[in-house]
Amino acid sequence: MALMKTNELELFEIKQLLEAIYFRYGYDFRHYAQASLERRIRSILDKSNCNSIAELNPKILHDTDFFDLFLKNISINVTEMFRDPYVFAKIRTSVFNLLSTYPHINIWHVGCSTGEEVYSMAIMLKEEGLLKSTQIYATDFNKNSLEIAEKGIYKADRIKNFSENYLAAGAKGSFSDYFNVHRDTIKIRTALKKNITFSYHNLTTDQVFSQMHLIVCRNVLIYFDRDLQNKVLNLFKDSLIHKGFLVLGDKESIQLSDVSKFFSLYERKERIYQLDSCI
Ligand SMILES: C[S@@+](CC[C@H](N)C(=O)[O-])C[C@H]1O[C@@H](n2cnc3c(N)ncnc32)[C@H](O)[C@@H]1O
Repeated sequence: MALMKTNELELFEIKQLLEAIYFRYGYDFRHYAQASLERRIRSILDKSNCNSIAELNPKILHDTDFFDLFLKNISINVTEMFRDPYVFAKIRTSVFNLLSTYPHINIWHVGCSTGEEVYSMAIMLKEEGLLKSTQIYATDFNKNSLEIAEKGIYKADRIKNFSENYLAAGAKGSFSDYFNVHRDTIKIRTALKKNITFSYHNLTTDQVFSQMHLIVCRNVLIYFDRDLQNKVLNLFKDSLIHKGFLVLGDKESIQLSDVSKFFSLYERKERIYQLDSCI
């Protein structure tokens, strides 16, 4: 399919649409990276019975069901267990050594989507004897994803990918110990969920979490423009304890941001940073 180029009028219509959404619902997409946002809006337009982006505007304002559908489609929720296993392996072999020196550990999974990354962390903590002393906060602004995350139910045909990743991330047990199989789905066992709190949090509008030892925010900043990335990275700086860790996605960096002077690069390939100073 030929890629349609957005013309100036459409750019204006998108701007109006984003303002309308912010005014009506408080969701702020005004600082999302332009190209991927345009692609998502086009795909929503294709699925709707509207002929132009301008026609989406009144529908969004007056039809809350349509807005829910819009929200579902605007965010990209792709994720998997132990995604990029080398990152999880490094957290296990390196970051955990330092975290284990604290009597209590707070971890914030930001943009946790449907929860796979969060359960991966819980499995590693359990295997390293740290789960009992850890509280994991897992947040996202997509309520639909959070519901799935909380249930911890996934299609069984994903087991192969999940267990291969688990092994590559330095498995110390048997992956099948962490879920029950029900027909064509797997359900994460309750014991693993005990120290996890899933909740709604919108990075564009909501506040800091405090006293975090580790923040994992992977493949989220990539959808934001430079201003919003700066705002969110400042939020992370203010949420971390001194010497706390920040893990970003493999295409994300703090290098050119406002907060780079506060962090040191802890592991380059794995995009792990450590907060050195707050002032
Ligand atoms: C591609 S997924 C990343 C999932 C997971 N972190 C990973 O790397 O596998 C991006 C997630 O960011 C969430 N997200 C996007 N904008 C957000 C915002 N403003 N506040 C909170 N979450 C947001 C989306 O809902 C989605 O679940």
